[in-house]
Amino acid sequence: MQGYRLKSPTAVVIFLLLVSSLVILWSNPVRAAGEGSGSSVWGKDYFPNVPLISHEGRTLLFFDDLIKDKVVMINFIFTRCEDSCPLETARLREVQKILGDRVGKDVFIYSISIDPEYDTPQVLKEYTKRYDIGPGWLFLTGKEDDITLLRKKLGLYIEEIQGEDSTDHNLSLIIGNQRSGRWMRSTPFENPYVLATQIGSWLHNWKLPPKEKRNYAEAPELRQISKGEALFRTRCDACHSIGGDPTAALAKRMIGPDLLGVTKKRDPAWLNRWMAEPDKMLAEKDPLAMALLAQYRNLPMPNLRLNKVEIEALLSYIEEESRRKVPHDHSSHKH
Ligand code: HEC
Repeated sequence: MQGYRLKSPTAVVIFLLLVSSLVILWSNPVRAAGEGSGSSVWGKDYFPNVPLISHEGRTLLFFDDLIKDKVVMINFIFTRCEDSCPLETARLREVQKILGDRVGKDVFIYSISIDPEYDTPQVLKEYTKRYDIGPGWLFLTGKEDDITLLRKKLGLYIEEIQGEDSTDHNLSLIIGNQRSGRWMRSTPFENPYVLATQIGSWLHNWKLPPKEKRNYAEAPELRQISKGEALFRTRCDACHSIGGDPTAALAKRMIGPDLLGVTKKRDPAWLNRWMAEPDKMLAEKDPLAMALLAQYRNLPMPNLRLNKVEIEALLSYIEEESRRKVPHDHSSHKH
């Protein structure tokens, strides 16, 4: 880059991040121009029509049954993945909730296993139960070679993903409208309202004239938010509420416990350690952790690789938010 001098390594990293996100933004939606028979739409000649088996035990052909003429959202997961996948699944669940009963009717969500030998239909079914996945979202397995081919064709093949310690799983979602031929890579960590809006507007692409994006109105207002709140929204919000209205929480079918007052309810040392390494505490069979696990469908909270500063920010956000929700807490039921 002649002519430009970046001052510090941090500036270089930030610069590279900016460039790569721009590349992601502007190189997509990806179009396969001239693929196959001169058509600009990825069709049957592009996608392998391989058979996949759903968590319900149905055999479905990738092109004919799953994507032909449909608006789809596809990601690749594996159920043994303990780091990013649980959060990824929880965030897509948010998108599913926003889209409501359109999922399974005019939008289809597919999570395809990249560990098909282990992820049998039975294992996938178990997984959908643990996450309380609603209808219209299929978890699929199949032959490893077929799935690798699909990942390559969808541009979501990243060599390192299979590695032991890989958390580099962040660009693993593709949204597409097979009929219009528009495909866009994204990340499950995108704001679920934005994802839902993208899918929604793509759907209408070929049905209705484009209108203003009303879903944005439901997104949180722009205001100065603390580091703790920002972290909570991206890493925790998909599984936890803080003082959520119990009926709303039920409707939302939260994955994890409501965190109202948790900083008072729990011993600080326990809480700090839980945030840093819930997986280790569960492995050590910490009694409180085990009790919570049993209460929450045996779905373990993932290790979110939080550092000390992040944990501190999160806990003070939870504390503030709890105080805001219950200004004069006279409650005497502490456990
Ligand atoms: C994929 C879902 C998921 C995500 C993401 C997640 N959690 Fe959890 N969390 C759980 C579940 C489930 C439990 C219940 C214990 C268990 O089953 O392991 C839990 C338990 C907890 C507890 C203990 C509650 C208590 O009553 O003592 C705290 C505190 C907590 N989570 C905080 C967080 C914070 C803060 C974040 C974000 C940095 C977060 N969690 C992200 C699923 C999640």
